[in-house]
Amino acid sequence: HIVRLADYRPPNYLIDHVDLTFELAARGTRVESTLTVRRNGSHDEPLWLDGDELTLESIALDGESLAKEQVDQRENGLSISGLPDQCRLTVVCRVDPVDNTTLDGLYQSSGNFCTQCEAQGFRRITFFPDRPDVLSRYRVTLIADKSTCPVLLSNGNPVESRDLEDGRHLAIWEDPHPKPSYLFALVAGDLKSIHDQFTTCSGRTIDLGIYVEPHNIDRCDHAMRSLIKSMAWDEETYGREYDLDVFNIVAVDDFNMGAMENKGLNVFNSKFILARSETATDHDYEGIESVVAHEYFHNWSGNRVTCRDWFQLSLKEGFTVFRDQEFSADMGSRAVKRIEEVNLLRQVQFPEDAGPQAHPVQPKEYEQINNFYTATVYNKGAEVVRMWHNLLGWDAFRRGTDRYFERFDGQAVTIEDFIDTMAEQADFDTAQFRRWYDRAGTPNVHVSKRLEGDELVVDFRQEVPAVAGQDDDEPFLIPLGLAAFDRDGHPVALGGPDGNGEQALTLVLAKTEESRRYSLPAGSDLPVLSLNRGFTAPVKIEHDYDAADLALLASADTDEFNRWDAYQRLVMKTLVERVGEAEAHGEWPETRLPDGLSEAFGRLLHSAAGTQGGADPRFVAECLTLPSENYIAEQFTQDVPVDAIHQARVELREQLANEWSQTLVLVFEKLAVDGGYRFDGVDVGRRSLRAQALTYLNALDHPAWRRLAVEQVREADNMTERFNALTALSLRATDERDEALESFASEWQDDPLVMDKWLALRARIVEPDDMETLAALEAHPSFSIRNPNRVRSLIGTFSRGNPVAFHAATGSGYRWVADKIIEIDGFNPQISARMATVFSRWRRYDGGRADRMRGELERMLDRVDCSPDLAEIAGKALK
Ligand code: ARG
Ligand code: ZN
Repeated sequence: HIVRLADYRPPNYLIDHVDLTFELAARGTRVESTLTVRRNGSHDEPLWLDGDELTLESIALDGESLAKEQVDQRENGLSISGLPDQCRLTVVCRVDPVDNTTLDGLYQSSGNFCTQCEAQGFRRITFFPDRPDVLSRYRVTLIADKSTCPVLLSNGNPVESRDLEDGRHLAIWEDPHPKPSYLFALVAGDLKSIHDQFTTCSGRTIDLGIYVEPHNIDRCDHAMRSLIKSMAWDEETYGREYDLDVFNIVAVDDFNMGAMENKGLNVFNSKFILARSETATDHDYEGIESVVAHEYFHNWSGNRVTCRDWFQLSLKEGFTVFRDQEFSADMGSRAVKRIEEVNLLRQVQFPEDAGPQAHPVQPKEYEQINNFYTATVYNKGAEVVRMWHNLLGWDAFRRGTDRYFERFDGQAVTIEDFIDTMAEQADFDTAQFRRWYDRAGTPNVHVSKRLEGDELVVDFRQEVPAVAGQDDDEPFLIPLGLAAFDRDGHPVALGGPDGNGEQALTLVLAKTEESRRYSLPAGSDLPVLSLNRGFTAPVKIEHDYDAADLALLASADTDEFNRWDAYQRLVMKTLVERVGEAEAHGEWPETRLPDGLSEAFGRLLHSAAGTQGGADPRFVAECLTLPSENYIAEQFTQDVPVDAIHQARVELREQLANEWSQTLVLVFEKLAVDGGYRFDGVDVGRRSLRAQALTYLNALDHPAWRRLAVEQVREADNMTERFNALTALSLRATDERDEALESFASEWQDDPLVMDKWLALRARIVEPDDMETLAALEAHPSFSIRNPNRVRSLIGTFSRGNPVAFHAATGSGYRWVADKIIEIDGFNPQISARMATVFSRWRRYDGGRADRMRGELERMLDRVDCSPDLAEIAGKALK
């Protein structure tokens, strides 16, 4: 069943008020719902209430039972006809949270009740027009056993709580802000909480609470600090004040995604709340800070102004990701944050946008909306908002967002509404910009340069790939940062017709082919171009850089992001050439480091060791991180040479380590952090570069470096350093590694979030065709196929982080992963569908592999009980 944007119709009934009473029980939870209904369309249309796996007990119209012929009960809901223009409908139904394995709707996690309603989970709780353009005020009464569920939470403000006679108690919550059903939430259980307060810009005091299972109560402080910072930042940056008396967060262990922005009651995957230095890494701390911010920012971008329909998902997600990215940039290092964002785009979004699951930022059709919570909607969507920001400048952008929040407050709106509001602030024609929302695929910008006298001529050509049924080649509006450097690394002023004598420009490309002319100082050589600086546009740049150009930019570019990018391109060029040679000659080439690469590596290391100025160690660590095997694979369009890529990467790491081992040791020692764990920019940077140094050193087969790692695994007082060392030690199959892995597992066996790291590391180092180890990991007491975090750690990491074993020529990796997907599909289709996307681009592999991957997709799809979620993903992959 395909849902189309073009078929959108406004709701024919509105629900102004919802009164819900829950009598919570693992089995047979009773849900009584009274809806205040108002006709919004013509008389002869029935009211449609979605309902999914609900047991209907009764329906009453204004207190009287409804005539039989007025109610038509179908598989997916109720159709009610003959209603007056206004009425009150009371619907009673029952649900069984304990049997709900989908983690969608009302379910139990560690015995506590919780909900997930986005996108269409509310219909699994009660009968309702479960669409985001129906906004209602909610009053919620929760009744549950007081001893097992001492805590009762829902959206909005608490208005009443009291004990009942039968050992149960009751709490009433009221949310004054009209909201769509996807923002409903309740939580009931045995939870402990920490509390703090925030005073808003207008002087209101908000009570903040974070609720977790009792044994996690000592891991909430970082999340609370992150929340308070987010609230302050959104006031200062966007003028957005919080609007209820309380803001609560609950962490649950079983959760399909990262977190959920339910009004006044955010529910989180515990991975994005729980942290203390002994168990969480710097990376975890950063993830918590940004996800807490993301969900909090949704209070305005998503909740106060919401989406008309699910084709508008990026309206809230793209904008909110952009907002959380800028928050994180302000909290830490802007350049490093940008590098991480671009890494994600290139490694996840670009491939998605080039394969069978490609879709525009505003999709035009879907089968299952849950399959569209994608890197395209979220991260490309954020890039598109960023381009608005870059094209308008901050002041005009902020005027636009103020206007947007003011104009659409309390409404369910469209991406078009956002565009129109921004366009009012623009001094350029925005019509062409719209294409970023409508057209899938990553544009390629081919850039070439030449000298004409003392003029630099730069030619640009946009190439728009045909993807997912879209094959027109109309150009995009592309803001493109540009600068030029001479051979000594000095910036070159760009004068003449298209320049203004400045050193860095942002051009706006609008045509398929266009040229720009810049006058250079007399007698200049052809300069080196720095392109798409700061990653101003989500495009691929094709330009004929030689190794010397890249080495020069890697050290001289005044744009930090492009310095990183130049270094990465230099590394990538080396890797791709080696793989190409190995493939062409059937044997491994004589390997020599290319000109400039080794020097650039050394220069970076020295710059962070303080011997040549003080570069940010975190930035250096980002530079030294080798491109992932998957990203290297992206450089090959056909017959991806999986094994050669792996080998080239391993060898390059070893060679660089070999040449620079003394400096690596120096950096490792100099950047030691003492004085206990602190999560701050300086210490995080030091730890990250030390981790890189230790990793390179352990690429060498040398007992001294192994000892260094073994000691750090054992003795560091924080998980970041312990786990970094364990990871470094895992590069080679040694006894030290096996012992360290084992003792780590026995130390942390009772801590699921720590064991997730361990499972992921194990999954990353499984050898091809080692089915015994995979079986052992699957049987490990710390693994559970029912828990999405465990599944992502073991199965997700095996399939995405261990390409050599996943793509084993025998097909054993494919088979194992497909077996797991099929098993998961039986109880949690959202997760099985997501896991299956790893098979999407099977056509890029050689015949044997491609056949086997296709075979697994067919096996998933051909089952009679294949879920619609998985069927959409597998079906598109096979089409
Ligand atoms: N709105 C949530 C967020 O971005 C994600 C919820 C996704 N849920 C789902 N079932 N697809 O923070
Ligand atoms: Zn979101």
